[in-house]
Amino acid sequence: MAEKINEDKITDQQTYLNRRTFMRAAALAGTATATTLLYRRLNPPPPVPVEGEKLNDVAKAAIDGNGFTTNERLTPITDITNYNNFYEFDTTKDGVASAARGFVTQPWAVEVGGLVHKPKIFDIDELLKFPLEERVYRLRCVEGWSMVIPWIGFPLKKLLEKVEPTPQARYVAFETLLDPKRMPNQETGVLDWPYVEGLRLDEAMHPLTILATGLYDEKLPPQNGAPVRLVVPWKYGFKSIKSVVKITLVADEPPATWNIQAPHEYGFYSNVNPNVSHPRWSQATERRIGEFGRRKTLLFNGYADQVAHLYQGMDLVRNF
Ligand code: MTE
Repeated sequence: MAEKINEDKITDQQTYLNRRTFMRAAALAGTATATTLLYRRLNPPPPVPVEGEKLNDVAKAAIDGNGFTTNERLTPITDITNYNNFYEFDTTKDGVASAARGFVTQPWAVEVGGLVHKPKIFDIDELLKFPLEERVYRLRCVEGWSMVIPWIGFPLKKLLEKVEPTPQARYVAFETLLDPKRMPNQETGVLDWPYVEGLRLDEAMHPLTILATGLYDEKLPPQNGAPVRLVVPWKYGFKSIKSVVKITLVADEPPATWNIQAPHEYGFYSNVNPNVSHPRWSQATERRIGEFGRRKTLLFNGYADQVAHLYQGMDLVRNF
């Protein structure tokens, strides 16, 4: 797939940053750390250099201790919303935004069930009432590009706790809407529909795993998975399933779309791993959208401190 992007698009990113600075300042006022954090926010570090061995050290240090944010340069909103993978609408990256324009997401409900004590259908309005947080995450696509995205959402754990998984539940299965009238590319056989994904229960309960309902301070645009999508920052982007309608707690490893499509190319785990090449290309480097040159890809996309323990003792070459 050819990469094409307008490098010189102007964005309302500065407006967002100003508002964000204001909101953060208000929330932090009176706390001991307020002054330091506010100073950092008002005086952001210079953009990370584009090439060179030192880059990774800088980039790694840029992720905060719990992984919830990074001081790396945010990818402009025009790039985040015009360079997409969403096969239900279009198989080209620059074709998704226009194909998804007008996607109707009201009414919308997410059915959560399976091995749980309290199955429940959550209306989207109910999901939007969960306490929303901002999470600035790196997204690394399996194709070799990456972005830094300020998501709005809430930990998936909060939703799963409400339905009370039974002790038999070991995995979580996710499903995208199936409606060829609203997702026209589902008329084609380019993938098996609906798009499905899965996580191990401990991955799903990890505090970094969120359901996103917005980005920058906008409602989630159709092309990014409106009205609600999964975001798992230490895994390749395709694990972050969009426009979710069903979440099922199960005992066995659930099917995952790209794994069904090409099992030798896409494993169930799909952790970002520079040491495991895709059979047709290396995963050692990535191109940050909006920058020139390539940077080294980090194990677990830079979130090793937060998630490496989940895979202790596992052979990550076999479990790719
Ligand atoms: N979810 C659905 N339902 N359909 C898709 O085609 N593409 C995946 C993932 N989620 C996809 C999906 C892939 S390959 C990537 S890289 C990310 O979405 C891209 O997310 P973004 O367009 O918001 O950057």
